[in-house]
Amino acid sequence: MTQPERKILVTSALPYANGPIHIGHLVEYIQTDIWVRFQKMRGHDCLYVCADDAHGTPIMLRARQEGIEPEELISRVSVEHQADFADFHIGFDNYHSTHSDENRHHAELIYTRNRDGGHIVKRMITQAYDPVENMFLPDRFIKGECPKCGSADQYGDNCEVCGASYSPSELKNPVSAVSGAKPIDKESDHYFFKLADFEDMLKRWTTAGHLQPEISNKLGEWFESGLQEWDISRDAPYFGFEIPDHPGKYFYVWLDAPIGYMASLQNLCDRTEGLDFDDYWKVDSDAEVYHFIGKDIVYFHCLFWPAMLDGAGYRKPTAVYAHGFLTVDGQKMSKSRGTFIMARTYLDNLNPEYLRYYFAAKLGSGVEDIDLNLDDFQARVNSDLVGKVVNIASRCAGFISKKYAGRLSDRIHQPDLLERFTGASDMIAGHYEQREYSRAVREIMALADAANQYIDEFKPWVLAKEDGREQDVQDVCSMGLNLFRILAGYLKPILPEMAAAAESFLNVDPLTWNDLQQPLSDHTINKFKPLLTRVDPDTVQKMVEQSTATLGPKIENQEEKPMDTPLAKDPISDEISFDDFVKLDLRIARIARAEHVEGADKLLQLTLDLDGETRNVFAGIKSAYDPADLEGRLTVMVANLAPRKMRFGVSEGMVLAAGPGGSDLFILGPDEGAQPGMRVK
Ligand code: MSP
Ligand code: ZN
Repeated sequence: MTQPERKILVTSALPYANGPIHIGHLVEYIQTDIWVRFQKMRGHDCLYVCADDAHGTPIMLRARQEGIEPEELISRVSVEHQADFADFHIGFDNYHSTHSDENRHHAELIYTRNRDGGHIVKRMITQAYDPVENMFLPDRFIKGECPKCGSADQYGDNCEVCGASYSPSELKNPVSAVSGAKPIDKESDHYFFKLADFEDMLKRWTTAGHLQPEISNKLGEWFESGLQEWDISRDAPYFGFEIPDHPGKYFYVWLDAPIGYMASLQNLCDRTEGLDFDDYWKVDSDAEVYHFIGKDIVYFHCLFWPAMLDGAGYRKPTAVYAHGFLTVDGQKMSKSRGTFIMARTYLDNLNPEYLRYYFAAKLGSGVEDIDLNLDDFQARVNSDLVGKVVNIASRCAGFISKKYAGRLSDRIHQPDLLERFTGASDMIAGHYEQREYSRAVREIMALADAANQYIDEFKPWVLAKEDGREQDVQDVCSMGLNLFRILAGYLKPILPEMAAAAESFLNVDPLTWNDLQQPLSDHTINKFKPLLTRVDPDTVQKMVEQSTATLGPKIENQEEKPMDTPLAKDPISDEISFDDFVKLDLRIARIARAEHVEGADKLLQLTLDLDGETRNVFAGIKSAYDPADLEGRLTVMVANLAPRKMRFGVSEGMVLAAGPGGSDLFILGPDEGAQPGMRVK
C-alpha cells in the first residue's frame, strides 16, 4: 500500500573521536541504518546524518599521549570511522564533525538564545585540580580508594567493586589519573543551564509518546529526585569551543555534541540545492526527527537536549529510540576473552552482512541488552541466509539459464503461494517501522521455509528428467525465483549488498517496497553467481584471537559520561588482558623473617628470600597471622612490582593472599618441592 510521502531526519549518536568503532557501537548504527533503508525503500524522503564527537578531555589527552594536535587525531579517526561505517554498509547521507564551523555557529546560537532567555547562570564552584598538569580534573580522571568499601584504584564517580556512587572529594587518597599528583581544590566560575526552568515542558514531553515506555518511567524517577542545574562550561585547557564573551571557558562536550546533529544537516544543506535546514528544525516543522541512541545517554537526549532546543526556539524530536548494550557470549565485551571486537577486525575476517543479519534477528523495540553468541551467530547465518534464502535461488537459477536462455515463464505456477508472499508486505513493513526487526526476520524466514517446501514438493530436478515437462520446470523455477525476489526485497534493509547482487542477477532496477507486489513474468535474468557463502568457523576463531591482540591504551575507555545518568552502565569490564597477566613475575619466596611494624594496625614486615635475593615487603596480614608462625614458610610473591614508598619504609613486592579479611586471610603457599626463586606460571 502506498503511504503519503514523509519527510524524515534520522540520527545515530555521534561516536567519540578518541577510539575505533567496535561491534558494540555497531548495534546502534546497524539498527538505525536498517530503519533508514526501510524508509527509503518505502519511497519516503529520509535523511540519515551523523558526525564524530570530537571534543572533550579524553580526546585532548589522547592526542597529547600520541604527541599530536587534537585536530590531527580527530581527522585521522574520522577517516577510520567513515571507512568502518562504509564497509558495514551504513548509508549516511552525511557524516560531519562536532569540531566544525557549522557546529560552532549552532552551539553559539543555542547558547546565546538560552542565555538571553535567562536559562544560564554563573556560579563559582570548587573542583579537583591537577597542580602538575595545571588542569581541572573530570571525575573520571581522579582515582583513589572507594569511600565505602576501600577498594583501591577506583574512579572519582563510582566504585566498580561495590557499585557505590559518590563525589570525587569523598575518595580516599585521591590521585590524578593524568599526572599521578595529589589533586588540590581550586575555585572557578562555571556556567549552568537551568534545567528546572523546563520541568513542566519536560514532564509533558516525556510522557507524550515520544519515548519508549520504559524510558518514560525511568525519567519519572529522575523528576522525583529533582532536576539539577547542568554545568555546561569547562576551563582551559580543553579541546572544544570557547564560550562567547568568556575567554578561557569552553562549552562542555555534551553541550555541543547533540548540536552536532544539526551541524551535520547544516553542512549537507549548504551543499545541496533545495534542502533547507529550517524545514527540519523550525518549531512548526512538519518533518519527523528521530534520534537512535544507547541507553547510557538517555539523560542527555531526553532531558537536556529537548530543553536546550525549547529554550532556543526550535522544535523537539519526534522520538528518541534507545537500545540496550551488546554482550558477547552472555558477558560484557572483554579484551581478555577476545570479544572486544573492533569493526575493522571483524571486517578483516567476516562478511558485514552476517552481523547485520544477526543483530536484526535479535533486535526489538525495547532497551534490553542483546547478546552475540558466536556459535549461534554461525548457525543462524548458515541455516537462514545460506541454507534457506540463497538456496532458493541456487536451486532454480541453473535450469532457467541452461534450458530457457534465462527467460522466466509468463505464468504464475501457484498464485496462492505468491499471494501469501505479497500479502505479508504490510505486516513486515509494520515490524520494520516499529523497530521490531526480530519479528520481521521471523516472518521472512517462515516465508523462506514455505518457498523451500514448494521447491521440495515440485522437485524441478526430477521434472527436468521427465519427458514433456519443460513448461512445468520453467514454471516452478520461475515461481521459485519470484519468491526469492520477494524475500531479497523484504531483507533489503538488512542485507543491502545481497539485495544488490540479487537485483543484478534478476536483471531488475533497485527494488522498492512496492515493486515486490508485481512478480517478474516473461523476463530475462542473468547468470546466477553465489550470493553469500557459509561462515567459516576458523575465521570466527581467528577474529577472536586477533581481538585479544588489539589492546588500545587505557585512556581509550574514559569517555565523558558522568555517572549521574542512572541508566549508564559501563560495558567494558575491567579485566586484565593475557598480555597484562604475563607481565606478572610470580615467584616462590621463603619468609625469612616476619615482624610487627610499630604504629601499623594491619601490616607485617616480611623479609622474603628468593634464593639469594632478599626483599622487604609490607603485607596487610597482621589480623590473620602471628609473625612467628610465618617464618620459614613458602609463599608466592609478585617479584616485579615497582617498589612503593610507604609510611614505614619501601615495599619491594607483594605476597599473594586470599580471603574475606580479618582472621580469614590466607597467604598462598606452594606445594612441597617448590624452591625459593622458582617462577610460578
Ligand atoms: N559521543 C557520545 C554520543 C553523543 S550523541 C550527541 C557517545 N559516544 S560513544 O562512542 O561512547 O557511543 C556511541 C553510541 O554507541 C552510543 O549511543 C552508545 O550507547 C553506543 N554504544 C557504545 N557501546 C555500546 C555497546 N557495547 N552496545 C551497544 N551500544 C553501544 O556516547
Ligand atoms: Zn567500593
